[in-house]
Amino acid sequence: MTENGGPIPARPLPVSARSPGKCIVFGEHAVVRGAPELAFAIDLYTQVLVRPGTSHRLNSEPAEEVANEYFRTALRDWWPDGPALEVRSVSRIPRAAGLGSSAAFVAGLLAALSAPRGGIGRAELAQAAFDTERGAQGVGSPGDTATVVAGGYVAINGGPGDPIWTVRGPDRSWDVRRVADPGWVWVVAYTGIPRSTGEAVRAVGARLERPEGPALLAEFDRVATQGISAVQRGDRAEVARLMARNQELLSEVGVSHPRIEALINAAQPAAEAAKLTGAGAGGSIVVLPVPGREAELVRRLARAGGVPTVVRPTRDGVRLVEP
Ligand code: PMV
Repeated sequence: MTENGGPIPARPLPVSARSPGKCIVFGEHAVVRGAPELAFAIDLYTQVLVRPGTSHRLNSEPAEEVANEYFRTALRDWWPDGPALEVRSVSRIPRAAGLGSSAAFVAGLLAALSAPRGGIGRAELAQAAFDTERGAQGVGSPGDTATVVAGGYVAINGGPGDPIWTVRGPDRSWDVRRVADPGWVWVVAYTGIPRSTGEAVRAVGARLERPEGPALLAEFDRVATQGISAVQRGDRAEVARLMARNQELLSEVGVSHPRIEALINAAQPAAEAAKLTGAGAGGSIVVLPVPGREAELVRRLARAGGVPTVVRPTRDGVRLVEP
């Protein structure tokens, strides 16, 4: 088994790859401008099966008609003159919900496209997945793609020790480091409101261009830096305090939402902390449950109209599985 560190091996078609989704605990949005972020890979997966076809298709739809921009970008850049492919994608990660469905699809598809061409190392795959996601979305950081390629807890531009990879963008680069898993269970809840990551990132970018922008960015940076060391120490009380502060900052830059606030309030009695996760403006929240009250928390979130799921960090990054 290629447990999170190994390369994607060479394998002929048909090839199937499985990728986890991700959940951001600290630092979304600010990471786009180089501040630190902490995320972990979640045990909800997307599986992508690639086999020879008669024309490029995704889930039976011709490539030209597929709304999925990531699919066309990946084929254009990573399979430019290859033979026709029939691609099937099955996912348990809700789409446009801030839980990494697009990163998981891109990482799974690129891992599967690489296998018949001799395989690929994880650093290269992390770079390729970022280039593809960013190519389709136009903006963003490699936080999501690096997390689903690495598995486990991942710090971007923060955390201890040497980076495992550096991922390069057009105007900056981001260091990726592993962070030890404190062994906690988390709950995520989808508001039911899908949104566009690109639009949310552009709106926050405009906000951070204002005079108060640099001070806000410095505060995002401080919260995520302290948050990463609190997770490493296993200090739940400090993580809870910093998650609440991170939520205030996200609200200040305009990406909270009444449905997010409603879910955070509903979680309160059974939660140590809750905040939005991902791009916001809808999407999902992440909750650190009071230990032993996870079932009550799930009931509360469902009653408030959310779609809750208990998630556990998984050590498995994207990998090939039996087709
Ligand atoms: O909501 P998602 O899964 O697309 O997360 C986006 C995280 C952002 O920081 C808002 C954007 C990025 O590319 O890092």
